Amino acid sequence: MSILSGKRILLGITAGIAAYKSAFLVRLLVKNGADVKVIMTPSSKEFVTPLTLSTLSKNEVYSSFTNEDDDNAQWNNHVELALWADLFVIAPATANTLSKMANGVCDNLLLAVYLSAKCPVYYAPAMDLDMYKHPTTLASFSKLNEFENIQIPAASGELASGLIGQGRMAEPSEIVYFIEKNILKDLPLRGKKILITAGPTFEAIDPVRFIGNHSSGKMGYAVAETAASMGAEVVLISGPVSLQIEHSLIKVIKVTTAHEMYEATHNHFNDCSIAILSAAVADFTPINVANQKIKKKEGSLTMELKKTKDILASLGKIKDKQFLVGFALETENEIENAKTKLLRKNLDLIVLNSLNDKGAGFKTDTNKVTIITKDNKIVPYPVKRKREVAFDILQHIIKQIHA
Ligand code: CTP
Repeated sequence: MSILSGKRILLGITAGIAAYKSAFLVRLLVKNGADVKVIMTPSSKEFVTPLTLSTLSKNEVYSSFTNEDDDNAQWNNHVELALWADLFVIAPATANTLSKMANGVCDNLLLAVYLSAKCPVYYAPAMDLDMYKHPTTLASFSKLNEFENIQIPAASGELASGLIGQGRMAEPSEIVYFIEKNILKDLPLRGKKILITAGPTFEAIDPVRFIGNHSSGKMGYAVAETAASMGAEVVLISGPVSLQIEHSLIKVIKVTTAHEMYEATHNHFNDCSIAILSAAVADFTPINVANQKIKKKEGSLTMELKKTKDILASLGKIKDKQFLVGFALETENEIENAKTKLLRKNLDLIVLNSLNDKGAGFKTDTNKVTIITKDNKIVPYPVKRKREVAFDILQHIIKQIHA
């Protein structure tokens, strides 16, 4: 999954021959999971059709302040469009539009949206080489960059005029790569390697039965996704769950038993700077696993169990500079028990879930946690979606590692 997944992207298209490439750009952005809306200047429709772009983006294409084709002409609200966007990408950006943007001219919908936008604005210039080098164009670039717009430099090569030089719009794949890199560079967890455990473990009794628990893995997967969206490289060690995750920054390692989770976690611990252990690891495992299915007999069945190794406590013993986070699921004396666990396992932070709280715990999409830090800060949170809880946990970690 790309960092662009789930992002709302406005693509502004202006009247240059490179507009034909915008269709590919829309496709790539959509393929990367972005929600794309296209705004065209009126003359750009000579180069690429709104029908192509609306089909590829699966959204309406905007080019004027009203919907002319519609009998009940509707006002296209430029402010609403601008505020909808997480990113505004203008590609191709002609010398004419760039000059207008640099000088606050507002004679079409695209420019009105530009002036209303609060999100980052990227522009990919496209023009002939002499236009690209002209002092007025260079002045537009420098003004736009001074206004914190982000330039995606034009490439060199053969131009539509037949001349060879700089001015060719960056290829759609280069534009996507540039934007992804740029987003990542500003992310708070960029360059950090994070190890996360999630889900239950299953301890075999015989070839068809196991001891397990109700953990769905949702909390750990939410932490993994949120950490990756903040730029972290994540190793997610997951017990058996029905969740899927696909993200270029997340490596999933599937395990079944507590022992396998122990091994996988220890194999990756050295390389990481943060470890968040949210898995509900079985505390006991059968001493003997039957080779054949155990047949039912009269009377009761006794099974002998042995303790599994505590992964979190073991990492607490060997940790060097890693920031170590554990979870605690408590039903009584919650804060005191969680604090004791934090000390006993040598943690930097513990996330307390209480089964007594409504909307907290296994299988739900929400959770209610209290975050307790090594320096004894106790921060209770209301019931929130697990993605939001993940964000709160990661914000705490970021604050502490930068403290
Ligand atoms: N944990 C672990 N390995 C285990 C058991 C637990 O890594 N074998 C981790 C969990 O992932 C969680 C934390 O330890 O982050 C707390 O687990 P929990 O089961 O709540 O607590 P325990 O330490 O097992 O203590 P108790 O069952 O007595 O509450």
